[in-house]
Amino acid sequence: MLGTSALTPVAARAASRLGFAAVATKGLDTVTLPEGYSWQSVARWGDPLWSDGAEFDHATRGTGESQERAFGDNTDGMALFTKDGRNILAVNCEYTNRSIMYGARASKLPETVDDVRKGKAAHGVSVFEIAREDGRWSIVKDSPFNRKITADSPMEITGPARGHDLLKTAADPSGRKSLGTWNNCGNGRTPWGTYLTCEENFNGYFSSSDENNEPSAELQRYGVGNKDWGYAWAMADERFDISKHPNEPNRAGYVVEIDPFDPASTPKKRTALGRFKHENAELVVAPDGRVVVYLGDDERGEFLYRFVSDGRYTVGGENRDLLENGTLFVAKFEDDGRGRWIALTPQSTGMVSQAEISVHTRQAASAVGATTMDRPEWVVSNPRKAEAYCALTNNKNRGRKPNKGGDPTPVGGPNPRKKNLYGQIVRWMPDRGDHAAEGFDWDLFVMCGNPTVHKDANAGSKNVTPENMFNSPDGLGFDSTGLLWIQTDGNYSDAEGFAGMGNNQMLVGDPDTGEIKRFLVGPKECEITGITWSVDRRTLFVGIQHPGEKGNSHFPEGGTATPRSAVIAITRDDGGILG
Ligand code: FEO
Ligand code: CA
Ligand code: CA
Repeated sequence: MLGTSALTPVAARAASRLGFAAVATKGLDTVTLPEGYSWQSVARWGDPLWSDGAEFDHATRGTGESQERAFGDNTDGMALFTKDGRNILAVNCEYTNRSIMYGARASKLPETVDDVRKGKAAHGVSVFEIAREDGRWSIVKDSPFNRKITADSPMEITGPARGHDLLKTAADPSGRKSLGTWNNCGNGRTPWGTYLTCEENFNGYFSSSDENNEPSAELQRYGVGNKDWGYAWAMADERFDISKHPNEPNRAGYVVEIDPFDPASTPKKRTALGRFKHENAELVVAPDGRVVVYLGDDERGEFLYRFVSDGRYTVGGENRDLLENGTLFVAKFEDDGRGRWIALTPQSTGMVSQAEISVHTRQAASAVGATTMDRPEWVVSNPRKAEAYCALTNNKNRGRKPNKGGDPTPVGGPNPRKKNLYGQIVRWMPDRGDHAAEGFDWDLFVMCGNPTVHKDANAGSKNVTPENMFNSPDGLGFDSTGLLWIQTDGNYSDAEGFAGMGNNQMLVGDPDTGEIKRFLVGPKECEITGITWSVDRRTLFVGIQHPGEKGNSHFPEGGTATPRSAVIAITRDDGGILG
């Protein structure tokens, strides 16, 4: 129960800020909300963004051509940008469910060049205008803002690694360009109006045509090997064959900055923010104007990072390349509730250059003895006070196995349970209320668990009850009132240690009292991920990812429909504000 003393459930009951009736867990194949709230689909996998694109075909599940004109698969992080009354939604399309996407054929696997074209076009970032008419949000087809950024879109490499030998490939001998973005997980947004998309499991797309190829230790640290995860991209695009192009994986694993208002702009890969399995990017402006970006590396025993810019943000100023130069830090947590940020420099890491640190960031963090974490997912900052929260989703290897770099994963600090199956949310309060400060205090906002099954630490912290229990916190979002929205990507078996938790869900937490209440339950076999609000706060947009990943959903259309990931809009029936 380390670090949860701030939680006072009694006070929470006395003055709850969570003004809705909690939703019970149910195994329904739909979205369940509290009484007085409604939802609708806004954009589903395969919905065309242009009027010359074909409507989604449930029998064939589309082609390369139709997918290039349509919203991608597996909706994830997203942000709504509003300007001059136009609403532009930028949405990550993280990966593809191959068994669904190619489910119209016996093998349920990609087999042809067109299958790869379709798969690549279903990845990346879909940017499109939406509008509300007669109370319903929908895609504005043919809007000049509509854009598909895929695994084949040209990008610019910026920051310390730009032009470095590690980034030189046959496709770009200069090391200054890159082709495409994929496995875009969580997101961020900047106060100067750009979108940040975060490349997570980029490794799973590379393979080797030479089975005797031995990937370098550097590639292996990132999980790049001779076999891909079933995408088969090398079948149609040699860039993904590491025996021929061993530097290609070095061009992925970054945060990419996109201007959603300029469809002709070239996305910029920000190597100053490091290369790892980026979850999201939470940006805050420090009191002196420097930009601080919190970043998680989602793999068992990997690290939590922070970037601090060299330049300063000024309202209306020249801010657009603030993420090009700065210092990258990694977190070291102590068991006594203190922690500090360690700068990753050639001096501290023993590595030869900042460029190398920007490409082999995991190795740099290992060199300084950073704290191995229980899979850092989203980080968010409280708009009402100087504190940040990170979802540590779970880690079955905690206390049992080192990370991929051989760093031990001792039980303790913010990772207090061996074989952690439930996850926790850690928060930190920077010294002097300054997110650029070196030191911080930390505690656990919640330690997830199942109090109906366990009596030990796996019952969870005091603010976990049979009514609100959940596992594997992942997506996070703060609303403007300072409430924390928590999305889950966990075990939905509803059995044994997970009995009573039901489908994946979204809850709301009060940082001051520790109270947590369930707001939404998703359809079968989905994950809830991605959250953003309309500018009037009367619509909450949420992502429903991979419904029916094991073949048991027809969300959102029901009947015998092919299940499709979807962005949904949630409104109050009385037209009120949702955070
Ligand atoms: Fe894409 Fe770590 O979630
Ligand atoms: Ca996630
Ligand atoms: Ca996850």
